[in-house]
Amino acid sequence: MKPAAWDGVYRDGRDLYTVNRTPGAKVYGETLTTSDGVEYRGWDPFRSKLAAMLLKGAPSDVLGRPRTVLYLGAAHGTTVSHLSDVFPEATIFAVEKSPTSFAPLLALARHRTGLVPILAVAQLPERYQADVGAVDLLYQDVAQRNQAGIFVENARACLVPGGRGLLMLKVRSVTQQRPTATVVREARQTLSAARLNVTYETPLAPFAREHVALAVET
Ligand SMILES: C[S@@+](CC[C@H](N)C(=O)[O-])C[C@H]1O[C@@H](n2cnc3c(N)ncnc32)[C@H](O)[C@@H]1O
Repeated sequence: MKPAAWDGVYRDGRDLYTVNRTPGAKVYGETLTTSDGVEYRGWDPFRSKLAAMLLKGAPSDVLGRPRTVLYLGAAHGTTVSHLSDVFPEATIFAVEKSPTSFAPLLALARHRTGLVPILAVAQLPERYQADVGAVDLLYQDVAQRNQAGIFVENARACLVPGGRGLLMLKVRSVTQQRPTATVVREARQTLSAARLNVTYETPLAPFAREHVALAVET
């Protein structure tokens, strides 16, 4: 097991790992492996778009060193759990709209200090802005038509000046008709108009088809 290019992430060959904050416990059926007395969780890029983005060659500082994170579209907490491994000191506010997904997210938070689940829709940041405050990192993975617009509204509400953001753009949730390149260009324009500068872009294939990751800085 060796440190990878990103702080808090490890690799063994092509495979990514994070240090398990809750030794012995799996979150989504991932592999557990122990090396030099430390337990690591396999980070599956087919289950987590963040792992996919890293494997596609994201720069080493793409995540920064956030003390606070706002994560939109947390689902059961697959990627959230790895973020909480990578940044054990951080507070991670995890927004999810589905009560069905929220239940396992709540259960995850019982064993991971700093993880704060919020049952809400990402289109209405004013509902959680006061609780969340200002965050260093905004992460969004919601299958909605207006994904870039939702990201911008949340950045306006909660992202500190100099903060970073990661938008996992699901192209076919925006349109079934127009080409991927057009959808990505429009998303980039929406971000740029809000002074969110795109620093990195990559398609997530073969891990997630019709998805493009965009990294921004304010
Ligand atoms: C692809 S899944 C997220 C997977 C998760 N990010 C991970 O990597 O572990 C998308 C999630 O976004 C949630 N979602 C969709 N629209 C949303 C919205 N407007 N506000 C909050 N959550 C939303 C869905 O309920 C679903 O759980």
